[in-house]
This record gives sequence, structure tokens and C-alpha cells, in this order.
Amino acid sequence: MLNKNSLLKMKQDQEKITMITAYDYPSAKIAQSAGIDMILVGDSLGMVVLGYDSTIPVTLEDMIHHGKAARRGATETFVVVDMPFMSYHISIEESLKNGKKLFQETGAQALKLEGAGEILTVIRRLAEGGIPVVGHLGLTPQSVHVLGGYKVQGKDEMAARKLLDEAKEVEQAGAMALVLECVPKQLAERISENLSIPTIGIGAGIDCDGQVLVYHDLLKYGVDRLPKFVKPYLNSNVQMTDAVSQYVSEVKSGDFPENQHSFTMDTTLLPEG
Ligand code: KIV
Ligand code: NA
Repeated sequence: MLNKNSLLKMKQDQEKITMITAYDYPSAKIAQSAGIDMILVGDSLGMVVLGYDSTIPVTLEDMIHHGKAARRGATETFVVVDMPFMSYHISIEESLKNGKKLFQETGAQALKLEGAGEILTVIRRLAEGGIPVVGHLGLTPQSVHVLGGYKVQGKDEMAARKLLDEAKEVEQAGAMALVLECVPKQLAERISENLSIPTIGIGAGIDCDGQVLVYHDLLKYGVDRLPKFVKPYLNSNVQMTDAVSQYVSEVKSGDFPENQHSFTMDTTLLPEG
């Protein structure tokens, strides 16, 4: 299994780091079988698995429930779990308590926290306590209502400066990697070359040290609209709907189940009706 140092070395060797989200046993198992470097149990599960319209309703208990399932599916892969909305903001004590619980109960290798500013203290304290932390800057979905929507971040001079400064601060605070979401590719490149920890991009261009995509987006599984930055490698919506509708019609027509799907017994042993 990879660790903080091997991930750092991958950056130094310019070997791209691959990451995909997974939220349960089968998705984590598939990700591990495919040879992924890191799994993210993202709070995007609120949208793609639980059907909410943002990550805001996701709770610590949801993250623990899904984190444990993903862990069981990928025992040999580096797993990062998201701290959910407002679970690391109320007080430093509560943040550390929540981080400890999430880390211990899921058996993850790291936790991911969105933002800088006040969050830098939480990153520092968790890291000092022995919990590896992945940062997350750019479009931070837990702050969607403050940001005014899901849109590209850091496009003007001031915002770009701020993002680069914050990225350095997140590294300084002790983060082991940084997710950059929806950032112009040139800025993501500038940030990546200014940090020694690896950057992992989503909608942040080719020059990040790694890439992450949401499992359900990559497989077009249960999601209808895909953001510009997603490349779907499969259309599960079509393939899975076709399979299930074939099942429906074969049951209706009596073509399934066949003898090969059935158990038999000695008919002389059948009770009289
Ligand atoms: O929750 C998530 O899936 C994420 C990725 C988009 C980075 O945080
Ligand atoms: Na997330």
C-alpha cells in the first residue's frame, strides 16, 4: 500500500497519482482491482449515492458507514475519507473529536478537509496528532452557497494569488496532498510546481501531480448531467438499464428462469397436494 512518502516520491519521479471515489464494498473492490493508487470516500456520496442535491446534508455517521464499507472492499489500497459539512468548524475540540472518530472507525489512511484560513489549525492539529490530512482548495462544494454556485475558482488575478497562497499554507500546516477542484489549468500548474506535496486535480488540467474523478461520473452510473471535466469511460446508465429491462421482459414472457437456473428433486418424494 502507498503511504505519504511513496506519494511524495511519485511526485518527484513525475509518476501520475490516480485516485477515484468509492463509497461501498463493490466500488472499492473494483477500484482496487483496476490498480488505482488512492480511493476517496468523498462526501459526493451525498449526491451520487444518497440523492441529495449537494454535499451539505451528509453527516459524520454517513461517512463512517460508507467509509467502513469501502475499506472492506479495498483492504490493500490507500483510502482517504472526507470530513463532512461543519464537522470541523464548530470548535477545535469538536473537530479533533470528529476527526479521531472518523479515522479510527473507518480505518482510513487519511482524512480530507476543504479550505484554508481557520481550517489550517485543524489540519495542523490532526497532522500533529498522527492523522494524515489531504487538503482541498478551489471549488469547495461544502461552501457552494458562499461561493455562489459550482463554478471555476481563481480566474482573476486576486483570486489566483489567494489560491496559490492558501495552497502553500495548507502544505505548511502539514497536509500530505492537496486536491484542486475546478481551477484554470495554468493556475493548477503554478500551484503544483510551488508545492512539494502532490496536487490531485479534478477539473484542474493535465499538470497536477494526480487526478481524481467521481466513480459514478466516470462510469456514467446514475448521473445524468456530467461536468465539463469528466470523461465517461462507460455508459452504465444505458448498459445497466438494458440488462434490467431484459430481465423484466424475460420474467414476463416466461423465458427466465430456465431449468439451468432451477433446483430439482425426486418427484416420487413430492407430497400429495
Ligand atoms: O467528494 C468528492 O468526491 C470530492 C472529490 C470531487 C475531490 O471531494
Ligand atoms: Na468531497
